[in-house]
Amino acid sequence: MSFYERKILPKLINFACGLGPMMKQRAKIVPLAEGNVLEIGIGSGLNLSFYEKEKVNSLIGIDPSLETWALNQNLTESLGFKFTYFQTGAEKLPIDNQSIDTIVITYTLCTIPNANLAFEEIRRVLKPKGKILFVEHGKAPDEQVLKWQNRINPYWKKIGGGCNLNRDIPKLFQENGFKIPDLKTMYLPGWKPASFNFWGIAEK
Ligand SMILES: C[S@@+](CC[C@H](N)C(=O)[O-])C[C@H]1O[C@@H](n2cnc3c(N)ncnc32)[C@H](O)[C@@H]1O
Repeated sequence: MSFYERKILPKLINFACGLGPMMKQRAKIVPLAEGNVLEIGIGSGLNLSFYEKEKVNSLIGIDPSLETWALNQNLTESLGFKFTYFQTGAEKLPIDNQSIDTIVITYTLCTIPNANLAFEEIRRVLKPKGKILFVEHGKAPDEQVLKWQNRINPYWKKIGGGCNLNRDIPKLFQENGFKIPDLKTMYLPGWKPASFNFWGIAEK
């Protein structure tokens, strides 16, 4: 791992993902989490303050970047439910079959190198009636914006820790056997190639 990936990227991620518009997006989705919750790509823990302790039984956070997790604000001590962190990618989850009620994933499907493999694991650990709460950015609906997303993506990926600007998030869910009955989308304020957001609740 390079100096940039260890020392600079985690701080950049924490700063960029902590901006107001993204925090507002988290507030729409994370409080819906209930039961045994798994957060995939927990990053620096920016979702932690949005969990409602009355609804959550336990939370497992996974992320391969310990350096990013180290920036968390130590909120885990005051969560009011059991919390466990695993340093791992979503492609191999150290979690029992059908043990999770809610998966939370925010601004991470853009980055997971093998998203289809991650979905296999998601299907394995999620209970039959479990749900995925997600907020992601990805492929824009406007031709001009998409053209720029495609052009910039190879360079963006290098500086963004593997983040893709142009992933088709709804298609990814659909191809992996999940439906999203009430998908919401919009551009957040900011640079359009990185700001087209999708959010909702996905079910098997
Ligand atoms: C843009 S950050 C978002 C972090 C956090 N989810 C948030 O909303 O603030 C993307 C995160 O995906 C994580 N990541 C990268 N590869 C991953 C993988 N294979 N499985 C799970 N997370 C991964 C990165 O370490 C990083 O923390």
